[in-house]
Amino acid sequence: MARKSTQFVCQACGAPSPKWRGQCPACGEWNALVEEHLPTATKHNLGRTGQPAGRSTARALRLSEVESGRESRLATGNPELDRVLGGGIVRGSVVLVAGTPGIGKSTLMTELGALMQDRKILYVTGEESAGQVKMRAERLGVSSESFLLLAETDVETIISSVHDEAPDVLVVDSIQTIFRTDIQSAPGSVAQVRESAAALIQLAKATGTSAFVVGHVTKQGSIAGPRVLEHMVDTVLHLEGDRHHTFRILRSIKNRFGSTNEIGVFEMKSNGLTPVDNPSALFLSERARNTSGSVVICTMEGTRPVLAEIQALVTPTSYSTPQRTTTGFDARRLQMLLAVLEKRGGLPLSEYDVFVNVTGGLKLNEPAADLGLVAAIASSHHDRAISPSSAFMGEIGLGGEVRSIAQLEARMKEAEKLGFDELWVPSAGAQSSTGAHASANAVSRLDELLQRLF
Ligand code: TYD
Ligand code: MG
Repeated sequence: MARKSTQFVCQACGAPSPKWRGQCPACGEWNALVEEHLPTATKHNLGRTGQPAGRSTARALRLSEVESGRESRLATGNPELDRVLGGGIVRGSVVLVAGTPGIGKSTLMTELGALMQDRKILYVTGEESAGQVKMRAERLGVSSESFLLLAETDVETIISSVHDEAPDVLVVDSIQTIFRTDIQSAPGSVAQVRESAAALIQLAKATGTSAFVVGHVTKQGSIAGPRVLEHMVDTVLHLEGDRHHTFRILRSIKNRFGSTNEIGVFEMKSNGLTPVDNPSALFLSERARNTSGSVVICTMEGTRPVLAEIQALVTPTSYSTPQRTTTGFDARRLQMLLAVLEKRGGLPLSEYDVFVNVTGGLKLNEPAADLGLVAAIASSHHDRAISPSSAFMGEIGLGGEVRSIAQLEARMKEAEKLGFDELWVPSAGAQSSTGAHASANAVSRLDELLQRLF
C-alpha cells in the first residue's frame, strides 16, 4: 500500500493526526487541523539491525574531548536588552522575539544596528521592502556600513547569504513570512514555520552566528505557528505592552543562557525604544493619589524589585452572579482572596462586582501582591483612600494570616528609595528586616490590617 504523503497538523500546538478532526485531540483547539504534506525524505531509515542506512561520521565524545561550552557573549550596549538576554547575545544562539503586530519588534531589531556599530548585522526582511527598513534605520540613527539588508523570504537564499557575508548577528523578520521550497505548505503554516526555524537553528549552530527570529503572536497571545518553536530555540522573549501607552516590557519566557522572568522596560519614543532605568517611577507616574481603591505594591521582576499600582473598583452588583474582572492579576487568585476577605475580613463581597487592574500593562504573578490587592478592594469598598505614601507587600493565606515573602528587604529598600514611608509588611519572619526600617508596619492578620487601615 502506498504511504500517505499528507497528514493533518494542529496549527496551535503542532500535534499531527492521520485524519481531519474538528477539535485537536492534543490541545483541544477547534478548527485548527490543516492538511500538510509530509517531507519526502525519510529521516530514520533504520535497517533490520537497527543500524542507520547511511552511516554518519558522528561519534560519541568524552567530556574532556568536548570543546568548552563557555558561551562567549556580545554585549548589545542596551542595558535592558542585555539584562533580559542574561548578559548579552550568546554566539550561535537563536532568540525568538515574539509580540503582537505593531508593538515594536522590528524597531528593537533595527536598533541593534545603532547599538552594535562595529558588528556585522544582516537584517532579513520578509514583510517590508528594503527601502522601508532603510527609512526606519535612518530614523533610529543606524548609519553603519556593517548593517546589511536583505529583502528575501526563501530560506535557501538566506542561508547562502549568511555563508557569503558571515555576519555576527542575523535578524529574520519574521518567521511567518519565510519558507522552504521543499515543503509544500504555505508560508506561516506549522510545517513551514517549524522547518524554516529548524534550518535557521542549524545554520546558527554551524556558523556561530547569533540569530534573532521575529515571531507574531495571535490574538490569544500564543506565538502563531507551533508551540514546538518555543522548544527549539534557545531563548524566547516576549515584547509586551499596551498600544495606547508608550512603555514596553521585554520579558524572558525561556532562556538557556540566563535566568527567566527578567524584564527589560523600554519607552517608545520618536527615536525608537529607549531603555528606562527607573521602571518603578514610570509605572507610578500616572498614579491617582487620594482615590479609593488605589494601592502601591512591590513585585519582584526577576532580580529587580519594581513598584506598581493596583486599582480595584467595588460596586453593588445588578446580576445574580457578581462580576469579577481582572487585568494583570490571576483571576483564580482574586476569587480566593475575595472569599478570604468575605470570611475573615467580614466584607459582604458576594453582593458586589469587583474589577481589578494592574496599571502599566504589568502582570503580577506572585502571591506577594496579595496584601496590596486586599487593601485596594477594602479601600474601594469603604470608599476611603489609602495614604499615598504607603506601599504593601505580603501573601495572604486561606486562614486570613499574612505570610512572609521572599526578598522582603530588597522590596522595602526600593519602596523607601521612591519616598514611601509607610510600608505594610508581614510580621512573620520579618523581624530582622523590619527592625531596620522605621517605616515598617508589621501585620500578622487580615482583620488586623483592615482595622488599622480603616
Ligand atoms: P514596529 O517595530 O514596526 O512593530 P512590529 O514590528 O512589532 O510590528 O513598530 C510599530 C510602531 O512603533 C509604529 O506604529 C510606529 C512606532 N514607532 C515609534 O513610535 N518610534 C519609532 O522610532 C519607530 C521606528 C516606530
Ligand atoms: Mg515588524
